Amino acid sequence: MTEIRVLNDEAQFRAHTSVFRRAMHWGPPTDEQWEVVRPSYEPGRALAAFDGDEMIGTTMSFGSSILVPGGAVLPHAAISRVGVRADYTRRGVLTALMREQLSTMSDPIATLRASEGRIYGRFGYGLAGRWRWVEIDAKRAAIVGEMTGRVRMVDHDTADKLLPELHDAIGLARPGNISRWPGWWVRARDRKGDAGNSVTVVHSGPNGDDGFLTYKVSEEKDFKHKMSIEDFVWATPDAWRDLWMFVARLDLVDTIEIDLSLDDPVSLLFDDPRVIVTKDLQDEIWLRLVDVPHALQARTYGVAEPVVIEVHDKLLPANDGCYRVSPDGVERVEAPADLTIPVDLLGAVYLGDTTFSQLAAVKRIDGARFDEADALFAVAQKPFCGTFF
Ligand SMILES: CC(C)(COP(=O)(O)OP(=O)(O)OC[C@H]1O[C@@H](n2cnc3c(N)ncnc32)[C@H](O)[C@@H]1OP(=O)(O)O)[C@@H](O)C(=O)NCCC(=O)NCCS
Repeated sequence: MTEIRVLNDEAQFRAHTSVFRRAMHWGPPTDEQWEVVRPSYEPGRALAAFDGDEMIGTTMSFGSSILVPGGAVLPHAAISRVGVRADYTRRGVLTALMREQLSTMSDPIATLRASEGRIYGRFGYGLAGRWRWVEIDAKRAAIVGEMTGRVRMVDHDTADKLLPELHDAIGLARPGNISRWPGWWVRARDRKGDAGNSVTVVHSGPNGDDGFLTYKVSEEKDFKHKMSIEDFVWATPDAWRDLWMFVARLDLVDTIEIDLSLDDPVSLLFDDPRVIVTKDLQDEIWLRLVDVPHALQARTYGVAEPVVIEVHDKLLPANDGCYRVSPDGVERVEAPADLTIPVDLLGAVYLGDTTFSQLAAVKRIDGARFDEADALFAVAQKPFCGTFF
């Protein structure tokens, strides 16, 4: 029989990482790898499934916060290390883990990155944000004009101290952005150490440091170099533009690759918009509304007549019910519904990536007044997280 336990000590945390890694077809962590992973464990946030004394499945979360449309920042659980030992799959182990994790969670919103698209919908997660991976022909990527501020390279020790502070000071900017936890930065530093050639540059404007990016350049062949931008954070449009000018003008770089939000305006910077090509479009944010009333009340809404939305949540029935959404906010009501939606698809529309009309067109939701619901949930910026975990 499967039993779910909360883990609290280091030996269990390391076993948890080993079970997860095995599910991903990786070996157990070496001592060196474990030193990097260890700081990301927080007591009470790691769960494991046991068959007797044997650990057979894992999940955990990192404590974080997320920006929702309108600018409110809510507590957020970043779910990670989900895995079930191969000799125990398809027997309901993950279902038991998810049920326990969600029913005991105090954060109103959880998000994760999915290894496969079919796993998480049944647990109430919806695809709420996507990114595009682009490649830029650096030799033709001319940006006209001069920098307004200054870009400086910083060494690894300076970056290790400065970047977490600067990320916090800049704050969350667009729906889907999340705060980073101390263990995230430990792993980011390690990725940098792995390659040894990671570079951090910091931008300063009239009010001091206001943006940074980290990148690596690798030689593909015979002085042909590819730059991979791994982290790009800015507080002002000037910082964003200056940092792009810096990378576009680097010597010996032929191509630049980066993951961007769907509506990132970078192609408008270049005199020839064809220097940038989208190579792939992938799902980024899978979002679960754990506390539907709290999460719905936290975001703002566009201008339209109120719509009554009936929500169905098989795993967390406290969320079941009708919600009247209007430009003034959200209230729970006993009233006939205009439309009915399962909680995973409410997660998909929550940050504005998917619309009610799209879901109705593919017959995944029932009802009427989809255009008004679209207008209420419309957002100015496409959701994007930009922090991989
Ligand atoms: C994904 C994984 C955790 C699922 O664990 P599991 O214990 O087999 O899941 P469950 O038995 O609780 O499955 C519940 C349901 O989801 C379905 N399901 C589970 N994993 C699935 C998958 N990868 N693709 C499609 N359906 C899946 C099951 O068929 C089952 O459906 P049913 O209720 O209609 O019978 C496990 O297969 C695994 O560890 N995979 C490799 C690691 C991985 O990808 N982890 C996720 C990282 S984001």
